[in-house]
Amino acid sequence: MTFRVDVDVAVPMRDGVSLATNVWRPEKPGPFPVLLVRTPYGKDDAGTYGNPKLPDVFAFVGAGYAVVAQDVRGTSRSPGVFVPNVHEGRDGADTLAWLVEQPWCDGAVGMWGGSYMGFTQWLAAVRDVPGLRAIAPVMSSADLYGAPWYSPGGALSQDAVLTWGTLSALRTLRRELDEGRGDPADVRALLSGLEHPRLLHDPLPLTGRDVMTRHLPWVGEVLAHPERDAFWQEVAAIDRCAAITVPALQIGGWYDVFIGETMRSYTTMRRHGGSDAARDGQRLVVGPWSHADGTDLGTYPDRSFGLAGSIKAADVTGEHLRFFDRSVRGRTDTPGDTHRVRIFVMGVDEWRDEADWPLPDTRYTDFFLAGGGRANTATGDGVLTRDAAVTEATDTFLYDPRRPVPTLGGTVLAGAPGAHPGPADQAAVEARDDVLCFTTAVLDRPVEVTGHVTLVLHVSSSAADTDFTGKLVDVHPDGRAILLCEGVQRVRYRDSLTEPALLEPGTVCELTVDLCVTSNVFLAGHRIRLEVSSSNFPRYDRNTNTGGPIAAGTEDDLVVAVNRVHHGPSRPSRLVLPLIERPRTETEVRT
Ligand code: BEZ
Repeated sequence: MTFRVDVDVAVPMRDGVSLATNVWRPEKPGPFPVLLVRTPYGKDDAGTYGNPKLPDVFAFVGAGYAVVAQDVRGTSRSPGVFVPNVHEGRDGADTLAWLVEQPWCDGAVGMWGGSYMGFTQWLAAVRDVPGLRAIAPVMSSADLYGAPWYSPGGALSQDAVLTWGTLSALRTLRRELDEGRGDPADVRALLSGLEHPRLLHDPLPLTGRDVMTRHLPWVGEVLAHPERDAFWQEVAAIDRCAAITVPALQIGGWYDVFIGETMRSYTTMRRHGGSDAARDGQRLVVGPWSHADGTDLGTYPDRSFGLAGSIKAADVTGEHLRFFDRSVRGRTDTPGDTHRVRIFVMGVDEWRDEADWPLPDTRYTDFFLAGGGRANTATGDGVLTRDAAVTEATDTFLYDPRRPVPTLGGTVLAGAPGAHPGPADQAAVEARDDVLCFTTAVLDRPVEVTGHVTLVLHVSSSAADTDFTGKLVDVHPDGRAILLCEGVQRVRYRDSLTEPALLEPGTVCELTVDLCVTSNVFLAGHRIRLEVSSSNFPRYDRNTNTGGPIAAGTEDDLVVAVNRVHHGPSRPSRLVLPLIERPRTETEVRT
């Protein structure tokens, strides 16, 4: 394959700013369909991101597409100021308007790219721009409040905000230094937070991140908007799904910080997308991956999913090509394009094609919390049972924000050194008195859980506001307690993310905690476990328990909360699991 590349083509925006853009074209007569990526990470690296989650640009050009890579406003070679998200809708639309006028473009454009590059796709797609035929966000979100910056339960996604904020501030600072502005000492200050995550995460108040906000004031804005208010609604493509008329291929990971919103944008587009093509054309591929674990995807210190779990086995480039050939080129003869959804089922560690998500044959089943009121730690008396509990009991723990439960794996973005995202063993946190564990008996047959996991808790607290966290865990026969999925609910947002309501201390309320999604077969000999606590730090920020503004809370403000989970016939606290019960095939029965 031979191709030509034009570097730093200036693409004009409506306000006179021109964005730096590279154009890769097959060395043959055009015009070509175009695949556009808009990135804050440097367009010049678009061919060599070395990120196996992203498709191979050379394969795109080899298949006859022109590839266009653009530095978003205020990054790398594009002028202006980088304010995350706010310019991407307009700038994306202006770029598409320019593209379809180019003689080498045949008028059909697809967009691609991961994470932030996915935000740029959703925000352009809501504008229903001429020429756009499809988008392919990898590990991304159409609701930036829900992920990655806050969470469906209203807690700040602290690790994502501060880690990504630091990296972005560093990129801005580098531009400033190149232009003879900026203080070189800030480089050291920012880097020390990445090298020593406790320096980044522990200090209070959260709003005191002066160096970071000097170079990326947007971080201050994020902390100033803990509710899902107009600041977030303006960049929530998911709220405008009916305006999106193109299909999306989404690729996600069960341990990705974005996974909840990846799934929600799929289900919302299937129902409310703005055209038949958008509703019917959704595609979803989800593997056992986290956001940022390099090239060994699918293999983690406490759990390996085998070769099939590697992203290489998922053929991300092939998925993109089949999708774009159908939706951008309009080909109807794309082989292997028979199912909407492809998921990696953990436990049995194999890929499965499915008709839709949630799986149409899901049976949401209650697993009740039970026990005598001493569920603290994995050796306590907490029980998880399909039979409704017959006795009332209350489990109590102290949540001390000075001593939060540390994040161990899961959907954290970066984690701490030695603590990777992904399916980590929870043994160390399950030994804590402030972690309640509710566990089933040893399973005598496999139980498949694939879909959205919800926790309904009857809780009370000594505080006017606090958090309740939950984790679904697969307890292996060797004792490993492998995390599957997790979530948090900030009590003040129990009814609304825009109208917080404090709790009357001591009164019992029903709380629904979204534990996100997973796909796992709990094998015979394993046990299903639910963990309940009030912190998961720094995956989420610590609730100060005061009821006041959390980001402004200082060390002196922190209050210890006495938190309680009630269960029994009158207060049926329960885990609602999406069970998949299918007749086993003959081969499965034989093995
Ligand atoms: C990313 O582009 O990888 C990213 C963006 C926002 C939050 C986390 C990661």
